[in-house]
Amino acid sequence: MRGRGLHFHFHLSLALLFALIAASFGISVKNQSVRCIAAERRALLDFKKGLINYDNSLNLLVSWTSKEEKCCKWKGVGCDNTTGHVVMLDLRSRITYGIFGGSLTVISGEIGTSLLELKHLSHLDLSLNHFYQIADFIGSLSDLTYHNLSSNPLTGFIPHQLVNLSRLVDLTFPLLVNISRNLVELDLHHNQLSSLIPKSFDNMPALERINFEDNSLEGGIPKSLGNLCHLKELNLRDNKLSGPLTFAVTNLSGCAKNSLEILFLDDNNFNGSLPNFVRFSSLRELTVACNRLSGHFEDNFGNFSKITVSNLDKNRITGPLLDLSKLSSLRKLSLRGNQLEGLLPVNIGKLSQLVLLDVSNNSLHDVISEAHLFNLTKLRYLLISFNALSFNLISN
Ligand SMILES: *[C@@H]1O[C@H](CO)[C@@H](O)[C@H](O)[C@H]1NC(C)=O
Ligand SMILES: *[C@@H]1O[C@H](CO)[C@@H](O)[C@H](O)[C@H]1NC(C)=O
Ligand SMILES: *[C@@H]1O[C@H](CO)[C@@H](O)[C@H](O)[C@H]1NC(C)=O
Ligand SMILES: *[C@@H]1O[C@H](CO)[C@@H](O)[C@H](O)[C@H]1NC(C)=O
Ligand SMILES: *[C@@H]1O[C@H](CO)[C@@H](O)[C@H](O)[C@H]1NC(C)=O
Ligand SMILES: *[C@@H]1O[C@H](CO)[C@@H](O)[C@H](O)[C@H]1NC(C)=O
Ligand SMILES: *[C@@H]1O[C@H](CO)[C@@H](O)[C@H](O)[C@H]1NC(C)=O
Ligand SMILES: *[C@@H]1O[C@H](CO)[C@@H](O)[C@H](O)[C@H]1NC(C)=O
Ligand SMILES: *[C@@H]1O[C@H](CO)[C@@H](O)[C@H](O)[C@H]1NC(C)=O
Ligand SMILES: *[C@@H]1O[C@H](CO)[C@@H](O)[C@H](O)[C@H]1NC(C)=O
Repeated sequence: MRGRGLHFHFHLSLALLFALIAASFGISVKNQSVRCIAAERRALLDFKKGLINYDNSLNLLVSWTSKEEKCCKWKGVGCDNTTGHVVMLDLRSRITYGIFGGSLTVISGEIGTSLLELKHLSHLDLSLNHFYQIADFIGSLSDLTYHNLSSNPLTGFIPHQLVNLSRLVDLTFPLLVNISRNLVELDLHHNQLSSLIPKSFDNMPALERINFEDNSLEGGIPKSLGNLCHLKELNLRDNKLSGPLTFAVTNLSGCAKNSLEILFLDDNNFNGSLPNFVRFSSLRELTVACNRLSGHFEDNFGNFSKITVSNLDKNRITGPLLDLSKLSSLRKLSLRGNQLEGLLPVNIGKLSQLVLLDVSNNSLHDVISEAHLFNLTKLRYLLISFNALSFNLISN
């Protein structure tokens, strides 16, 4: 996912392409025979002028012409079937099949202010295109309830201006300040945001899911995130976050400590020792792989009976593995590529839900016996290579 530049990059896996095709069937098609409003039609044509379509013959904007009166029939445009107002613009890039096979109808250019004429626009999907700038004025479209900009190479800083999208409930959109008190999900993954994580989440108290995966966000985790009392999922994977993880986790220990269920912090530059996660009473999945954590593997998880997945791969954690037997719900435990030493605790055998255990590439030395493994009836993946472990199992 790294190495994006100004040139074209289609970060699309085949699976995503199929998902897209499936998704494009799901878009509700509005009544196309209603007349469209002349001013809105002009606004659309004006908006088109700012856009660049890389392949004219395949682009969906080809249907947007001054010859075709009924703009509600234009591709990607949806109107209200009674008022005729444009309510939907779906410019998500599509695959079009021509003589040379399938290709994407990617759009770039400028998101022009003529969009403001579409006062009843509620659904704006610009995802999977090549827009570099976030249009600040979009905050003035007061009916907008869905704005998806995901998978655009957005650059620069997250703008901090007041916007009035009071009815927004679900979006993937980088205007983070004062967007909506009802916002539940904020999905900005796979962009090129390169600022600090904004501090201003105070006015979005309903947020439950935040996904900033695969950007270039820097700095730590602001306290305002930890003050989100409904926050269940926080995905900050694959960024450039840094600083001692214990401080970041202290910042998260506002009332989010009771709600947080999923915390993904892999592929960042967090350092220091592994924090104590005991205070996060609802935490089920924790992944901090590929950071720079050091220090001993202490009793960081306490009586954590809810945790099901824990991945601390590729850090520099040292010391012996302690008693993990209280983590009774644990299904996947991965500690690969650290510097753990000493014995594999026998009471690991009490983790009856364990499906995957990966302690490979550490410095453990032990003789694994049936006491370790006998009761691990669900275990499907046991990865212990690159250690000094041996087996002593009775034949049955
Ligand atoms: C579309 O709108 C026209 C005019 O308002 C109406 O006569 C027609 O029944 C509608 N068709 C559908 C499928 O909604
Ligand atoms: C207009 O659209 C709404 C919802 O999209 C639908 O419930 C209604 O039946 C439509 N009316 C006509 C005349 O098609
Ligand atoms: C936003 O767009 C992306 C890519 O088109 C899509 O995968 C995702 O589901 C959309 N998000 C929402 C909330 O609809
Ligand atoms: C937000 O709404 C207020 C009052 O409704 C208005 O005065 C202001 O211009 C709006 N701001 C933006 C950025 O649209
Ligand atoms: C957000 O709104 C609140 C009050 O509604 C205001 O006090 C605060 O200054 C606003 N924040 C920004 C960054 O505009
Ligand atoms: C903790 O929060 C403060 C205030 O939001 C911030 O300045 C600091 O960088 C954060 N520290 C870490 C390590 O996340
Ligand atoms: C952690 O990284 C910061 C820079 O992000 C550095 O100043 C600090 O010394 C590092 N601490 C440890 C314990 O490595
Ligand atoms: C574990 O739970 C027991 C009783 O529920 C409590 O006494 C003990 O202090 C807890 N240990 C930790 C590390 O939280
Ligand atoms: C084992 O981990 C070390 C770093 O601790 C790494 O350099 C090495 O490539 C890893 N070896 C394997 C086989 O994964
Ligand atoms: C397996 O579990 C049973 C029942 O909990 C227990 O009696 C037995 O000692 C365990 N065996 C091993 C080898 O831990």
